[in-house]
Amino acid sequence: MRKGLVAANWKMNGLSQGNDALLGAILSGLKDPSGLEGGQAEVLICPPAVYLQQVRDKLEGSRIRLGGQNVHSAISGAFTGEISAGMLSDTGCSHVIIGHSERREIFGESDQFIAEKFSAAQAANLIPVLCVGETQAQREAGSTAETVLGQLNMVLGHVGIEAFEQAVVAYEPVWAIGTGLTASPEQAQEVHALIRKTISELDEGVAEQIRIIYGGSVKGTNAATLFAQPDIDGALVGGASLVAEEFIRICASFE
Ligand code: PGA
Repeated sequence: MRKGLVAANWKMNGLSQGNDALLGAILSGLKDPSGLEGGQAEVLICPPAVYLQQVRDKLEGSRIRLGGQNVHSAISGAFTGEISAGMLSDTGCSHVIIGHSERREIFGESDQFIAEKFSAAQAANLIPVLCVGETQAQREAGSTAETVLGQLNMVLGHVGIEAFEQAVVAYEPVWAIGTGLTASPEQAQEVHALIRKTISELDEGVAEQIRIIYGGSVKGTNAATLFAQPDIDGALVGGASLVAEEFIRICASFE
């Protein structure tokens, strides 16, 4: 059975004092006698890069993992403002989010660049959390499958199926991110199953073990029904990851 993964994407939110309070509350919530931390889901926190060390130090001794929100594809060099995979790894990250729709849309990241980041992350022993998802217009035009599989296949074509042995895919319908609109469990399941089927056509073993998590307005109240779907292995949580009780409840939905 696949182990669940609940990942917090703090985006560009939080300052050191608030981070400390949030992490403290999450740590005590997850250490609750109900054994949330030792439950079915692995927990990952992806803070802004300047706070990675703060979060790492605060999480020391817990089993919560640390991740970056973005990475550059180059090993080092003249890329002012960018962060390499080696730096994330050196700072204690195990994962990095790649191809988030905000990076694709606001910062114009191409499928090719995203594929290169995926390779760079793995070369530094980071597990990429590859985000894919359609916009509202694409869904209405009936091109959800084409969009999502197009994004997936660009990376698969670049890195090969073996690389997906150490990767997570996050299905994040763009219309559901930060909008309060969540894909219904059935809508999400349909796309997750399609992603798994596409991977399984290349390698059944990889398809069976890869975690495909859902993102887009996941909250304490809707997490359990999403996680009950056979191909939804966890969540990538934005807004609700900034509220300790919500995040703890989402993690607890795996119980
Ligand atoms: P949201 O964001 O939970 O605030 O919708 C999810 C994400 O963008 O990863």
